[in-house]
Amino acid sequence: MALMLRNARCIDPQVGLDEVCDVLVRDGRVVEVGHDLTMPKGVERDLSGKILVPGLVDMHVHLREPGFEQKEDIASGTRAAAHGGFTAVCAMPNTDPVIDNAVGVEYIKARANEVGKCRVIVSGACTKGLKGEILAEMGDMHAHGAKAFTDDGHGVQDAGMMRRVMDYAVQFGCPVMPHCQDNSLVGDGQVNEGVASTRLGLAGWPAEGEELEIARDIALCRLTGCPLHIQHITTARALDLVRAAKEEGLPVTCEVTPHHLFLTEDDITDEYPTSLKVNPPLRTADDAVALVAGLVDGTIDAIVTDHAPHTDWEKDREFELAPFGMIGLETSLSLVLTKLVREGIIDYARMVEAMAVAPRRILGQDVVSIAAGSVADFTVFDPEATWTVAREDFCSKAGNSGFIGWELTGKATDVYVGGYATMEEGNIVE
Ligand code: DOR
Ligand code: ZN
Repeated sequence: MALMLRNARCIDPQVGLDEVCDVLVRDGRVVEVGHDLTMPKGVERDLSGKILVPGLVDMHVHLREPGFEQKEDIASGTRAAAHGGFTAVCAMPNTDPVIDNAVGVEYIKARANEVGKCRVIVSGACTKGLKGEILAEMGDMHAHGAKAFTDDGHGVQDAGMMRRVMDYAVQFGCPVMPHCQDNSLVGDGQVNEGVASTRLGLAGWPAEGEELEIARDIALCRLTGCPLHIQHITTARALDLVRAAKEEGLPVTCEVTPHHLFLTEDDITDEYPTSLKVNPPLRTADDAVALVAGLVDGTIDAIVTDHAPHTDWEKDREFELAPFGMIGLETSLSLVLTKLVREGIIDYARMVEAMAVAPRRILGQDVVSIAAGSVADFTVFDPEATWTVAREDFCSKAGNSGFIGWELTGKATDVYVGGYATMEEGNIVE
């Protein structure tokens, strides 16, 4: 089937493209990019006034299936992804059962094929049950399609265990993606240690609890040569560690979430909003400024959501009892457009690098670009659409966003995966 996408402003820094043009797609791939293209037969879409970019990839998403389908499942989570403008997500393995063997990997692939509204890249656990004690079946998982390894939600406490994980992963050319948390320092920490923990009377989660494990894992990256991708980085000093590792030439990358960029510990009011309870915690305003600078200077490679859906009954509890996490798939692009691109802090090209190009590169995925021969995975957004974040508009089963009520400008309207529309004019295609 042929598809003609007309008159969008097409932006792809990989091929130096930024102009209004037509994109002709046939059998899931780009045939031609140019002006006044013709097509004998097929579907035409007029995208005047909109921007078309290589399909966005969120490399840190909790789809919760199997085991926690009351929070989210692969059908609802991938719909939320498409609704937010994503063509692919990387699913985290902290499900029940944990994805720590090949059967789990095959299950996610099969469900994604059946009900998915975007591509699902599978990550496997580093250790069995995320317990940090016994190596997961990494080789088998890789043979069945796992593209990365992570115990997300937990730090791997034992340095020798993390070294073995990296010794294995490097053989498969797969990145290890640590959630850096030293339990001996973090303990039962609820919010950033310092002003917030004192003001709220809650146990502190110190910056050092994150930074120490980042420093350790960079040392293990140096020792093993394994690609290391630091998940959800949150502090200025952690960024300095990554910056130095990159200068040294180590294969280290990192990611940041919109909530750590645009919210701080100061937003946690004395109403104890559990939607702002996330792990790692919201840090200081100075940290947030450093994170933005790190995104601008390239120390931070990728923007991810850490989409972490929870039910209302889990979140509507005392702060200490509520689970960590907030959803993000349906607000991420709009937040980045509103708070970074419109403000002139980054341009569209940098946004595409951080939300499409780098995630694919880190996860070893084929390049997607607006050029003949590429797979036709595209995100189209209206840069002028204004909207207010409201729970009832989410496709996610969950409502635990920290951005409810925010007024944003810019919104995904159309999404194509392999040349097929998953969203058209803001509506999910069934
Ligand atoms: O806030 C978080 N929620 N951070 C994590 O690392 C895990 C996640 C979850 O699974 O809910
Ligand atoms: Zn995590």
